[in-house]
Amino acid sequence: MSKLNSAAELKKFRQDILSGRDPDKPCVTVCLGTGCLACGGEKVYQAFVAEIRKQGLEAKVDIRRTGCHGFCERGPLVVIFPREICYLKVTPADVPELVARTLVENKIVDRLLYTGEDGKKIAHEGDIPFYKHQSRIILGTNRLVDPTRIEDYIALGGYSALAKSLFVMTPVEVLDEVKKSGLRGRGGAGFPTGTKWETTRNAPGEPKYVIVNADEGDPGAYMNRSVLEGNPHSVLEGLIIGAYAIGAHQGFIYVRQEYPLAVANLTVALEQARELGLLGDHILGSEFSFEVAIHRGAGAFVSGESSALMTAIEGRVGEPRLKYIRTAVSGLWEKPTNLNNVETWANVPAIINKGAAWFNGIGTKGSKGTKIFSLVGKVKNTGLVEVPMGMTLKQVIFDIGGGITGDKKFKAVQTGGPSGGCIPAEYLDLPVDFEELDKAGSMMGSGGMIVMDEDTCMVDTARYFVKFLSEESCGKCVPCREGLKQMLLLLENICAGRGREGDIELLEELGEVMTEASLCALGTTAANPLLSTIKYFRNEYEAHIREKRCPAGVCKDLIHYYIAPDKCQACLLCAKSCPTGAISGDKGLVHVIDQAKCTKCGACFEVCPSRFGAVTRISGRPVPAPVAAGTKVQGRK
Ligand SMILES: Cc1cc2nc3c(=O)[nH]c(=O)nc-3n(C[C@H](O)[C@H](O)[C@H](O)COP(=O)(O)O)c2cc1C
Ligand code: SF4
Ligand code: SF4
Ligand code: FES
Repeated sequence: MSKLNSAAELKKFRQDILSGRDPDKPCVTVCLGTGCLACGGEKVYQAFVAEIRKQGLEAKVDIRRTGCHGFCERGPLVVIFPREICYLKVTPADVPELVARTLVENKIVDRLLYTGEDGKKIAHEGDIPFYKHQSRIILGTNRLVDPTRIEDYIALGGYSALAKSLFVMTPVEVLDEVKKSGLRGRGGAGFPTGTKWETTRNAPGEPKYVIVNADEGDPGAYMNRSVLEGNPHSVLEGLIIGAYAIGAHQGFIYVRQEYPLAVANLTVALEQARELGLLGDHILGSEFSFEVAIHRGAGAFVSGESSALMTAIEGRVGEPRLKYIRTAVSGLWEKPTNLNNVETWANVPAIINKGAAWFNGIGTKGSKGTKIFSLVGKVKNTGLVEVPMGMTLKQVIFDIGGGITGDKKFKAVQTGGPSGGCIPAEYLDLPVDFEELDKAGSMMGSGGMIVMDEDTCMVDTARYFVKFLSEESCGKCVPCREGLKQMLLLLENICAGRGREGDIELLEELGEVMTEASLCALGTTAANPLLSTIKYFRNEYEAHIREKRCPAGVCKDLIHYYIAPDKCQACLLCAKSCPTGAISGDKGLVHVIDQAKCTKCGACFEVCPSRFGAVTRISGRPVPAPVAAGTKVQGRK
């Protein structure tokens, strides 16, 4: 590849790529995002390469590796274009049949398709309910490009927004377009992106820097990883455009250490962009020069905070500092620095290409565009979903997520990562945007969405997140460091049946002080899971404290497993599953749990057939005396 020296050369380069491609030629795309790789995607890809060669189809069929499609739990995913036939959970053994049937005979292999609730098979990716209700402005491109081939990105119009910015617009016009679009930061606080760019642009001091925040430390969140792995050029193009608007000539991409594939694909993307003259000196022959370096983070959640992240890039311990002066004015090496999240940057090329009015037309009054969520927990379809701002929680969880697993009752959804709040069932019609989530006591955060069912204990949930945050607090300021420690102690006591009257009020007070007095947003938001669960599920706290009862049957110190003698059918399943040999019984004899040996692992509860329902969890009342050894079952069902 040789350097492109103008917008016209970029256009010509694109036309050459397109003219060498036949849109009707079958193309097998195999998802090789981290999720699909983990379940054997690479072997599936290699099997396709070998089978296509064996059948002599190399000239007739293309094959392409792609990034994550979002539906990782059904991976490895294979989509065959142009018909967009989507096969799920494909193994290398399936490949000869897929080649013979779909590529040669143009027929569909039903058994690898998505099965709808009504039992009907769905062939096209876009018709699968998980995808059907999404608007995938950013994620949708992942399935169309090989992230290691810049040609794929350019074929889809990639870098045309950069060319437009450099040759048709002034930096201020680019900035104004982003301001008008209403784009707000996707990394947590939802700060207006154009306003932040403007602050850095107008701040005194040179050089100015731009940074991509790809620290993504929230448990269960992986949307930034998927964009970086699957379509690194979209982030890079956004970053270069931002640098042009702000007047920066050096950028950094801060990626967490645990994302090796993202780093690998990014490294290739930077090399290819440099080779084509899209990065480096005189980009596309213009007056604008810009360079980027990748900085690998060390995996601390707090390092994602803006001032901590910049300190880490400077080579010091990633700890937040007081922000009397914002990092947009005095950031990296005390120079004006603009930091944005991966998803924020990835939105920029589309805004420049399609215009602020287009972007502004998507979403709600105060929150424009789409948002990617990591939908996980007790929901049938888990994965990455991208929806327009303003879609209700119910639509996301039930229409896209397919509802609650095991047809249990929905209890709550936790949004916004570890410091988000838990929103109860009565808020299911809440439109998901920055303001509405805040009002409900939660937040957008970077887009975590954890669905909980009736078997979730909300006190235990608060304990889990407070534990995570107390381990991740950098310890620099007292309200966060000591507050979280004491909060955790109180919650552990409540979960263990040692809660006392007044604990709830003490927790609330602690939460308020931490929110008011902590130094950075880790501490000021850390009480959200606690305060929201007290607000919406206070009765559960009271049951734990006053009755020593865990209503959901989760807190181990407050429950016992018990086999109801009148329901036990002596099927032996529980005894076989018990890791401690705590269950006695035999064929035809009622099974009994020895409470002294039971570690409350719950395995017996899980395996006891639901039609018997003999293993129960008891909380807040004594365990009935065991039946005498050798008691016969009361008749088979
Ligand atoms: C403890 C903590 C961790 C954070 N982690 C991240 C992160 O992993 N990624 C991110 O983009 N923003 C993170 N943020 C938010 C950043 O401080 C900053 O607001 C954001 O990167 C700005 O980008 P945006 O304007 O595009 O949202 C974190 C904030 C805090 C307080
Ligand atoms: S609020 Fe917590 S994480 Fe932030 S500076 Fe203070 S101790 Fe560190
Ligand atoms: S809860 Fe676990 S240890 Fe206890 S009886 Fe059941 S299987 Fe055995
Ligand atoms: S990694 Fe393949 S669908 Fe996510």
